[in-house]
Amino acid sequence: MKIPVLYGTFREGRKSEAVAKFIHAELLKRGIESEFIAPENYHGKQLEQKHPEPWKTVMAEADGLVIVSPEYNHGYPGALKEMLDSLYEEYNFKPVGIVGAAGFVGGSRMVEQLRQVVVELKMVPIREALYFPMVWELNDEKGELKEPEKYLPRLEPFFKELFWYAETLKEGREKHPWGK
Ligand SMILES: Cc1cc2nc3c(=O)[nH]c(=O)nc-3n(C[C@H](O)[C@H](O)[C@H](O)COP(=O)(O)O)c2cc1C
Repeated sequence: MKIPVLYGTFREGRKSEAVAKFIHAELLKRGIESEFIAPENYHGKQLEQKHPEPWKTVMAEADGLVIVSPEYNHGYPGALKEMLDSLYEEYNFKPVGIVGAAGFVGGSRMVEQLRQVVVELKMVPIREALYFPMVWELNDEKGELKEPEKYLPRLEPFFKELFWYAETLKEGREKHPWGK
């Protein structure tokens, strides 16, 4: 199963990257093939490069998506929206799980707003979400997530639902191709 991680920001000094890297590592540990997609590799490209490889290829081959993002001014970062807007068919009928890494409410407003956006991409946002409040306090001196084992029980229902949809929708796309 292929489930890339789309990370939401290229802010200098960002602190949410520790969470994004942790989630990515946990997907790999569960035998999922997963690319880590960082928006700084795609930002500001010419219009003709708006569908840069490998993001288009990665998403075309994916069975689902995990988005890990901070919340900026009660919304999702522009960098994340730019990435999402650069593709369309590649997302269709695939599930997406959203992880917030931010301040007091762990990015919950960003998660709710992003759910509205991904529906327009014909994605299926899962019910489970993960929230990492006060994320700047969760980084160790190497910039990695402190005490990662603490979060493992919370990951299970998130991954369980995501994988269920990934398998079920893959079968659905194969058995019932849309518009063909
Ligand atoms: C422009 C800007 C706006 C922000 N707005 C919010 C916000 O609305 N809610 C929140 O929880 N944190 C907010 N934060 C703080 C981030 O949660 C904090 O920077 C955190 O470390 C995650 O973002 P980062 O990966 O960019 O560091 C904001 C940060 C920036 C730079």
